[in-house]
Amino acid sequence: MDQSDKDWWRHGIFYQVYPRSFQDTDGDGVGDIRGIIERLPYLKSLGIDAVWLSPIFPSPMADFGYDISDYTGIDPLFGTMDDFDALVSAAHESGLKIILDLVPNHTSDQHPWFIESRGSRDGPKRDWYIWRDGKSEGEPPNNWLSEFGGSAWAYDDATGQYYYHAFLAQQPDLNWRNPAVREVIYEVMRFWLRRGVDGFRVDVIWHLIKDVEFRDNPANPHYLEGRPPNEKILTQYSTDQPEVHEVIAEMRRVIDEFDDRVLIGEIYLPLHRLVVYYGNDLAGAQMPFNFALLSTLWSARSIEKIIADYESALPAGAWPNWVLGNHDRPRVASRVGMEQARVAAMLLLTLRGTPTLYYGDEIGMHQVAIAPDQVRDPFEKNVPGIGVGRDGCRTPMQWNATANAGFSTTRPWLPLADDYTHENVVNLDADAGSVLSLYKALIALRKKWPQLVTGAYQPVAAQGDILLYRREGQDSVIVVALNLGPEPASIASDSIGFGRQILLSTFLDRQGEEIHGALDLRGNEGVILGGPAQAG
Ligand code: NOJ
Repeated sequence: MDQSDKDWWRHGIFYQVYPRSFQDTDGDGVGDIRGIIERLPYLKSLGIDAVWLSPIFPSPMADFGYDISDYTGIDPLFGTMDDFDALVSAAHESGLKIILDLVPNHTSDQHPWFIESRGSRDGPKRDWYIWRDGKSEGEPPNNWLSEFGGSAWAYDDATGQYYYHAFLAQQPDLNWRNPAVREVIYEVMRFWLRRGVDGFRVDVIWHLIKDVEFRDNPANPHYLEGRPPNEKILTQYSTDQPEVHEVIAEMRRVIDEFDDRVLIGEIYLPLHRLVVYYGNDLAGAQMPFNFALLSTLWSARSIEKIIADYESALPAGAWPNWVLGNHDRPRVASRVGMEQARVAAMLLLTLRGTPTLYYGDEIGMHQVAIAPDQVRDPFEKNVPGIGVGRDGCRTPMQWNATANAGFSTTRPWLPLADDYTHENVVNLDADAGSVLSLYKALIALRKKWPQLVTGAYQPVAAQGDILLYRREGQDSVIVVALNLGPEPASIASDSIGFGRQILLSTFLDRQGEEIHGALDLRGNEGVILGGPAQAG
């Protein structure tokens, strides 16, 4: 066994908690740290290994915590530092890791660093942010656009310059070319690592460094009407600059000052550019998040191609990972439909690489419709009406059928799904055929069969809606057959091999069935087959 076999984050299953929506214990309609502690037994019962928390630091909440005004505190909305320490110890006691969200690209405009920076042109913190003169009177320094709509430059009357903000004007970008900025954030990392956190998910890590000359970005020739306006230009000079890898290698060195920690990068890039984030000699992020499943066309051939492209792009020794949902993208149950969401769960938990689950996907939570007067997401407020809103995937966890779904004793900050009286943890746990039972069975199977974690991935040619692959162990092989369409399909025995037995069906009703010939799948059915490793 070499070191890499021991890395817990390769074997583990990650689970993202959006703290505002997980469990409220103080009756303000917003989730908190005590609530997460209360729900640790649930997380443990699922079988996951690591919990990633979206930001819990002091923040004016313009972007719900992704605008931080103090990197080493806890926002009172979520609790206290004592609560946080209690969470880390309780999680560790039950064998769960805690991953924090590090947001180094930008601070809140209320952060003391920015207040000082905007105070004068020649103060010591001026260069901690990105200040530039306009091109001419009333014209920003260049054509870069904010991801949340409008120019990415805000004019500051007091000192007559513009500052850069890739997101909201309340989220000014730090200047990562300044060594003092790097050092202060590395100290923030050490602060939390010393408190026992097991790693970080780094927000928009591919944004950290911008073009040194701030050249105009080129127009996007493939812009599609109806898409967010920032997509009208490409981000050639504002993101994914070569020097970012230097910064990430430095972050990784901080991580490696401590034992057994992990650096995860949030990166939306095509696969061939994503894999560069593993770094030279794999000294970058251990897990550059692979979001390919979030935006793919849900078809067997597209997914087969994504897996093949990713597997072949991975540098030698780099460990893959897969993500099915997060707090920025529509819920998987709504993207692919509830029937296919079960197939998607089987895919996620049988692919080679660390899976990351998004809270509530295991109970099939869908995208909740948000009435205009209930919109909270600043992206939707800035760019209304084209479906960019992220509130619908951030609604409260549905624990039980009581008022407010057991999430809170009061009206939650976002509306609950109207089907929560049935679609909730208590109900679905009692139902042996539910999506929750499926998730639990899949996770248990992944733990039982090591080749689902470490076995090679071998695609098997298939037709139509069938996605077929093998995960190979020493003496046995697992075959995964997924029907991505609604029609029944049959797979010839020479594609799956002989002596196979069904370990699990997404319908949870065929366990133990011996397959002697062709494998028949119902519409929207996935199965996992076990059997000897002989040629299939
Ligand atoms: C990515 C986060 O996931 C998203 O929620 C946030 O709005 C932006 N970064 C800006 O921090």
